[in-house]
Amino acid sequence: MRDLNEHNITDAVLESFAATPNPRLLTIIKSLVRHIHGFVKDVEPTFDEWLYAIQFLTRTGQISGQSRQEFILLSDVLGVSMLVDAINHRTPKGATETTVLGPFFVEDAPQFEHGDDLSNGTPGAPLYVDMTVAAASGEPLSDAVVDVWQSDSEGFYDVQRADLTGHNLRGRFRTGPQGELRFWSITPTAYPIPDDGPVGELLEASQRHPWRPAHLHFMISAAGYQPLVTHIFVDGDIYLDSDAVFGVKQSLIDSFPEQPAGTGPNGRIMDAPWRKLKYSFGLTPL
Ligand code: BEZ
Ligand code: FE
Repeated sequence: MRDLNEHNITDAVLESFAATPNPRLLTIIKSLVRHIHGFVKDVEPTFDEWLYAIQFLTRTGQISGQSRQEFILLSDVLGVSMLVDAINHRTPKGATETTVLGPFFVEDAPQFEHGDDLSNGTPGAPLYVDMTVAAASGEPLSDAVVDVWQSDSEGFYDVQRADLTGHNLRGRFRTGPQGELRFWSITPTAYPIPDDGPVGELLEASQRHPWRPAHLHFMISAAGYQPLVTHIFVDGDIYLDSDAVFGVKQSLIDSFPEQPAGTGPNGRIMDAPWRKLKYSFGLTPL
């Protein structure tokens, strides 16, 4: 291991890891060394560029904490999160496609009953969700746990609003005997991902916008099935083809058709048009 140069250093580094006893770790570290050396040979960074990269990653770590995970956001805007998701969710026919979890899920969302309204009077276009949960094979799944969370009509999640102490526009339900669930909310809107940190700098330097098209988040769990983490996107959104985190799939887009004012579901009197989402979710067996 002397006189190493740009031609033989990669092999020397690979050799230094050869005795790694964990075979999976060995595969990972060898691939990492090969790719990172290949990347450096491709880019041929100057010392200043290399130092900039180290400082960028350092700042990415420093801005992260309890309520912010800038490394996941970096993975999101590089398309790595969706690539890992795709590799791990080669879903069977009948199963709903998956997408990113995102940073705004919380564990302890309040419980709601069928027919409840998640919006607590928050302004926005009323939305009625009429959904079912079934196995990919079609068998209805009762008592599945359904977490829902979404942005408000100004594009903010409750956890981003300094003026809000409790939860809003999020909740946990359980499906009924036929896998059914119906509830009220408001129509979500497009919003920018947090762009006041290193990831925002990267987007700006690349002339990329930080917006995500409007969507409702769902996390659905049932015994014997893989948890489903997905969104349903609102058709017509101008960001559907340029999602900052590459999360859009055609099968997850719905038109949320507008319904006329008048008598709505369960006899609710609607004094303005409202929107409806009807969707059947399919879960993949374990
Ligand atoms: C979200 O949809 O909530 C989200 C996903 C990835 C990054 C930022 C936000
Ligand atoms: Fe979101």
